[in-house]
Amino acid sequence: MEKVSWKEEYSVGIGKIDRQHRHLFEIINKLIDRSGSSGDSALVSETLTEMLNYAKEHFTTEEELMQEYGYPEIESHKEQHIYFFKTTAELSISALNKQSMVSSEIVEFLKLWLTLHILKCDMKYKEFFKANIPAKAALSV
Ligand SMILES: [Fe+2]
Ligand SMILES: [Fe+2]
Repeated sequence: MEKVSWKEEYSVGIGKIDRQHRHLFEIINKLIDRSGSSGDSALVSETLTEMLNYAKEHFTTEEELMQEYGYPEIESHKEQHIYFFKTTAELSISALNKQSMVSSEIVEFLKLWLTLHILKCDMKYKEFFKANIPAKAALSV
């Protein structure tokens, strides 16, 4: 499976969030490395858990910033995060129950959802935060 890499066009202008997005891509790539016919199901399961835990941490970072600065589209954005979390958990459980190696279905979902979410949903808050977070505070985020 083809790996994913973070590109400059994915930057939302907040260092911490860009770093978290990069790390999410790294976890997807780790999953690609660990899956496939020669994969080890314990490592795959560990990587899926890592993805869920790190995604949760990342979503909390975004949502806390949105809350703090009064981002108007916070509720619909939170729904997107919940959808991702639920779908990833469901796909992971069904793959692990079947004792099958991680299906390309999960990897394709993770790749597609993450890139589209960054480009379409996260990008929407870029200008808002740029205008509302004081420059000094943005550096420390
Ligand atoms: Fe994000
Ligand atoms: Fe988001």
